[in-house]
Amino acid sequence: MYKDFQKFWDKKWNNVGLIENNNFSLKVTKFINEKWLKLIDIWAWNGRDSLYFASLWFSVDSFDFSINALNNLSNISKEKWLNINTILWNTIDFDFKIDCYDIVYACNSLHYFSKEDTIKICKKIKKSLKKWWYIFVRVKSIDDTDFWKWEKLWENFYKNGDDIKHYFTLDFIKELFFDFEILEIQELQDIHNKIEGTTSINWFIDLVARKR
Ligand SMILES: C[S@@+](CC[C@H](N)C(=O)[O-])C[C@H]1O[C@@H](n2cnc3c(N)ncnc32)[C@H](O)[C@@H]1O
Repeated sequence: MYKDFQKFWDKKWNNVGLIENNNFSLKVTKFINEKWLKLIDIWAWNGRDSLYFASLWFSVDSFDFSINALNNLSNISKEKWLNINTILWNTIDFDFKIDCYDIVYACNSLHYFSKEDTIKICKKIKKSLKKWWYIFVRVKSIDDTDFWKWEKLWENFYKNGDDIKHYFTLDFIKELFFDFEILEIQELQDIHNKIEGTTSINWFIDLVARKR
């Protein structure tokens, strides 16, 4: 199912300029006001949020499997004199460092996998977080309407050409983080800045949780 997914993203990220950080990135500063923390941006793309976090003096690891996306990010971070460490790998077979991060940030990323793979990936990500520290997750909600025209592969999972997406329910995200202290969970509509430079309004589920 994921066979050509890396190629799909690499093609999409070729020659994309910088677009504004996601509104969701501001949520981090609502909960945390320390500097020098270690943050991983899970599926950073060309780093619109990674750059914002680096400007707040976090030490940022930006993770993605698209070489074009990470090359863009490296160039922009050099231009801006920001220190960002890029990690090029496919999450499916990547072993995250254990107890390494103060903040795990995953915006518009966890919704590309089957339910089983999402559970496996989440287990690895949760282990990479230090005890008592924070995870911020934004995923597309099942109430979003853009999938109606897509081909349904299985429950809440849709395909559009080479693109695939798993739309989340509140119950599923609570199940994924059952062992964390959930500080905030909400389904909401928000503006989404798209790669093409346009914007759309989408339904998301946002979660802020702490490792016990
Ligand atoms: C919609 S983008 C979101 C990027 C960013 N968080 C944002 O909101 O701007 C999803 C990103 O996930 C990356 N990606 C998808 N599947 C991946 C995988 N298995 N391993 C690593 N990166 C992956 C893609 O290359 C793409 O950059």
